[in-house]
Amino acid sequence: MARGPDNVRKWSTLALLAIMGTALTEAINPGFVAIISQKGLDFACQEGVAVLQKDLEGIKVPDFSGVFKVKHLGRNYYKFYSMAVVGFYIPNPQINLQPVDSLQLSIKDASIEIIGKWTSKKNLLKAGGKFSLRIQGVSISADLKLFRNPSGHIAVECSTCSSHIDSVHVQISGSMLGWLIQLFHKNIEASLRNIIYSKVCKIVTNSVTTKLHPYVQTLPVIARVDEAAAIDYSLLVVTTTSEFLKGQLKGEFFCQGHRIPLPITPPAMNFFSNNDHMVHLGISDYFFNSAGFAYHECGILKITLRDHMLPTDSKFRLNTEFLGIFLPKVAMKFPSTEVQLLISASLPPQLSIQPSGLLLDPAMETQAFAVLPNASLVPLFLLRMNTNASLELDAEANRLVGEMKLEKLTLELKHSDFGFFEVELLQAAINYLVPIMVLPKINERLRKGIPLPLPAGVQLNNLMFQSYQSPFLVLSLP
Ligand SMILES: *[C@@H]1O[C@H](CO)[C@@H](O)[C@H](O)[C@H]1NC(C)=O
Ligand SMILES: *[C@@H]1O[C@H](CO)[C@@H](O)[C@H](O)[C@H]1NC(C)=O
Repeated sequence: MARGPDNVRKWSTLALLAIMGTALTEAINPGFVAIISQKGLDFACQEGVAVLQKDLEGIKVPDFSGVFKVKHLGRNYYKFYSMAVVGFYIPNPQINLQPVDSLQLSIKDASIEIIGKWTSKKNLLKAGGKFSLRIQGVSISADLKLFRNPSGHIAVECSTCSSHIDSVHVQISGSMLGWLIQLFHKNIEASLRNIIYSKVCKIVTNSVTTKLHPYVQTLPVIARVDEAAAIDYSLLVVTTTSEFLKGQLKGEFFCQGHRIPLPITPPAMNFFSNNDHMVHLGISDYFFNSAGFAYHECGILKITLRDHMLPTDSKFRLNTEFLGIFLPKVAMKFPSTEVQLLISASLPPQLSIQPSGLLLDPAMETQAFAVLPNASLVPLFLLRMNTNASLELDAEANRLVGEMKLEKLTLELKHSDFGFFEVELLQAAINYLVPIMVLPKINERLRKGIPLPLPAGVQLNNLMFQSYQSPFLVLSLP
């Protein structure tokens, strides 16, 4: 192909774009990292090879026939037919990590058991029978290349495959005329060798395309959390080193139907896996903070408290008589009127990961209203509620669940439509209401949990928290 100046320009532009593309991808830190160690891959290998084995047992062995000559006896005609693979034994499959983006499946000393029928003919003499034979020393080596496809899914393809048969030891049994078969075992060996060579890699490649690839694609790219939010778990990059496979996922919550760019960026997460654990999951504070932004954006971080919701034995009622203790003006203007409190997050809650656990600033405020007989609301005052909250996380199978604890709330008057008053007088009431009416609602939601990015059918039952360290935490599976 001629490469004129135009072509050169085109090629250098493409190269530049490719470099820029790489640089851009690498600049984005993940919110969620999954690392699978050799131990984890060994486990996956057992599961995967069991599926492959079934496919390999489906190898169809075509009939073959030919002519052989024996001294003094002349030409003989033979045929092998009705052959079926009844066992494909894979004694010690291995999966090896191959930098920088692939795995190598290595099978050695596999053996194949075949049963079938034979017939032989010379002039008018006919012989035949059944036979079973075993092919030994089959090795297969296949490279599985991992990559990200444009939809953010992980993809896998078999990039190279080779099979080899060290030597064909055909053991023949079940034939009364075994001596005859021995005469042409060279023919059998050569034919079977060709059949195995031509089929094994086709089956391996096909198995990867039709089974493994669709399976890894069940890893969710968008995981629905609830009616409001979802998590973007799209793959940013997948890499392999000599020790582990690492998938870096976006790990970002968003409000469904209303996704906004976040004013925060994910921090770098550097941690090491070890081979005592199958899987390590690193989750950064970005992941949790994006949840705060998503729920705030969805406008659901709020709750309205009304008098009828209060326990019957409450020491106070939500009405203007009660407020009259410290705001007589309100009691005078709206006698015997219900009061309603709207508790909401004024800002997206901010969370930090500390060695002691997850700490959270819920940035809550309370707007009080008088509820008029025609249901219109009259704003009375706005309070800022200062508190520290902690979030305890737990892993349940395929979800991360939490429980929030609140420290004592202190109030601050931000605005009043009816003049200044001492907020301390309301503090006891708020510290009574929030733990019994607000916190249980939050915890009910947190107990439902958030989905972890796992492929179909996988449950990580022994997931443990390994470390909490700003700006990320690590979970591991022994
Ligand atoms: C409700 O009643 C108040 C006072 O009686 C009045 O000012 C307001 O306009 C009414 N609102 C509606 C929606 O009727
Ligand atoms: C929250 O915790 C910080 C640091 O531990 C402390 O300085 C602050 O006073 C606490 N705030 C409240 C409202 O408890």
